[in-house]
Amino acid sequence: MRTSNQARRPFMGKISIITLLITLAFATAAFSQTGMDTARVPVKLNVAATVEIQPPTAAEGLGVTKAVAANKLQDTLLIFLAKTLAVSYNQQAARLNIPAVAKSSAGTVTLNLSVLSYSEAEISLYTVGGKRVLYGNVSASSAANTVSRPNLPPGTYLISVKGTDDNAFTARHTHSGGKLIVNAVFGKVDVIPFGCSLARKIGNGEHSPATCSGCSSLKKEAIASALNNNWTISAKAAGYTFDPLTFTPIAGMNPLKTVTLSPVQADTSGFVPEALGIGVGATASEQRFVWHSDDAAANNKSFVRIFKGSDIVSTDSGDAGNATKGKRFHKVTSSNLSPNTEYKYSVSNNKTDWSRKYGFKTPGAGAFKFAVAGDMHQGYIPDNGNGGRQRAITGWDTTMNRIAGHNVNFILDVGDHVDTAKNDDFYKPFFAPAPMKNIPMAVAMGNHDIDDIFIHHFNLPNTAKSDKVMISYNPMTWYGSYWFLYNNVLFVSVNTGAYLLAVYQNDTDAKKMTEAQNHIKYFDGIIEKAKTAHAGKYDWLVVYHHKSTESIGPHATEEEIEIYKKAGFEPLMDKHGVDLVIAGHDHLYVRTKPMKAGKVATGGGTVYLTLPTASYTKFYPETSSLIGDHIAKYKKNNWNGWPGYGVVNVNGKKIDAIIYNYNTTGGADVGLDTLSLSK
Ligand SMILES: [Fe+2]
Ligand SMILES: [Fe+2]
Repeated sequence: MRTSNQARRPFMGKISIITLLITLAFATAAFSQTGMDTARVPVKLNVAATVEIQPPTAAEGLGVTKAVAANKLQDTLLIFLAKTLAVSYNQQAARLNIPAVAKSSAGTVTLNLSVLSYSEAEISLYTVGGKRVLYGNVSASSAANTVSRPNLPPGTYLISVKGTDDNAFTARHTHSGGKLIVNAVFGKVDVIPFGCSLARKIGNGEHSPATCSGCSSLKKEAIASALNNNWTISAKAAGYTFDPLTFTPIAGMNPLKTVTLSPVQADTSGFVPEALGIGVGATASEQRFVWHSDDAAANNKSFVRIFKGSDIVSTDSGDAGNATKGKRFHKVTSSNLSPNTEYKYSVSNNKTDWSRKYGFKTPGAGAFKFAVAGDMHQGYIPDNGNGGRQRAITGWDTTMNRIAGHNVNFILDVGDHVDTAKNDDFYKPFFAPAPMKNIPMAVAMGNHDIDDIFIHHFNLPNTAKSDKVMISYNPMTWYGSYWFLYNNVLFVSVNTGAYLLAVYQNDTDAKKMTEAQNHIKYFDGIIEKAKTAHAGKYDWLVVYHHKSTESIGPHATEEEIEIYKKAGFEPLMDKHGVDLVIAGHDHLYVRTKPMKAGKVATGGGTVYLTLPTASYTKFYPETSSLIGDHIAKYKKNNWNGWPGYGVVNVNGKKIDAIIYNYNTTGGADVGLDTLSLSK
């Protein structure tokens, strides 16, 4: 129980200032008013991570979160130390219903005052930044019990409620008159998804479970209660663990906090899957899993358990079959995942022995981030006197961990995962980086990957085997060509990696061209099918594949690329209005200006990206004669030992990308190039 004299308690949130000001209008001598301070908390990390600082009460959602980038491992987080008023009535904790949040139509938010809460009150909705976007006086005893406004963009908002009526709380309290004043009460409400019916009692740290169907996003309430000094710092990075710190913030600049994350320990108990990886699904609500196991004779099967918190939300079964070297491959797809949700998963071959849990997170309905990477070449054989194979392993591991620091939703890959397609052992270091178990990957097939082993190691959506129109020599093409929809972007992989002109070297030029045209026809069908399947559901169309047609490296002028350019690869991108084509194969970085009909275009066109190697091998030189006016940016070959990758932010009709590279002898990521597209 709290009295009104227990006033000086820390409380956070910019919104506090606003509400306190409002509250003053109602304040009586029963309350003492204080101000609010801010605290700057400097943090220093050992790896890129997302840092979160939370107050000690059930104020979840009102903490601050900040991504600390790999190239800036020291940063400062700002938190609010509001000292706010206590809530009391007759020396008892007051209680208050938070209004129900409803959406009556797209973008319209309605706050309903529930019956038996209080008879009159002001309710307001604020942005997290403190701007009031909805305000009204409501009365539960009259028809005017709702406030509403249209055109509210999806996002996170704070609800503030103040009641001033002495009839309030009659359902809870018997009192003999007098004025009840309720101080700032905050509930953080994520209005995505709408359609919730929520009515929660809050007050003095007590809250009943939400009555909510189809919405789990109402955060715990924050109220001026039970605050103490044990604020928490936590940090998250895929592949790392962290034990939260507690600390006592002070107003102004705080002492530096050192945040050290530890790599996830190797599996030590339960079933240990080999080469476990997760892949993108057909949409963002689907997740795909793949692993290998020994002992094919045991006829093992494939199961995945999905957890939300400690609850098992599904147990899914999938396919298994014999792979190379006495191994067995296992593939499972889990569907109907909720957006913006952290899940854990565990895999098993027999539904009895389960692996340890790994995690992944589904995206929200809006903006998302993906990394781009390729040409890892695990198993790279030439040593060159400097440990080439080990450099490929450590380079890829380092790149993956740097990617994980950006908290991407998935990785888009452009192929050449291994140096020798037929050596299954080379997939071990490919799947070895810890983030490979936490970040889904959408892979393309490179020319170094052409083997059934590729099919056994990746669980891809929408593969179109039945659509094959050619492929007289290579059954791989159908598997490496597929698509998926991720929020408002349609991604299509066309398998140029499997197109090897060497197969036709004894054929006539006419036969070579016919087969190249057959490939283009096949790619056309794949893109058309993807577009038809998701018509009206995407803003952007991205094609990713292996053999770049717009590079300036040594592969760019090879006949096998020239011939499928002549057969119509880029006109195909024009035909379908592809916004971005992402490729690799040449192990250097190139970005073109928007292009159409083979020329630089104004007012739209296709941008072609060629990615550098994401490991530490095979740095190819540029050919200066290929650097025409259509090249917007490239990286000269003075960067041996500098792997690279990119991070692409998609936010509605805007795409912003940064390409990074880094020196494997140490040092932070360097921004190599940026790309912005908008519609
Ligand atoms: Fe390559
Ligand atoms: Fe390649």
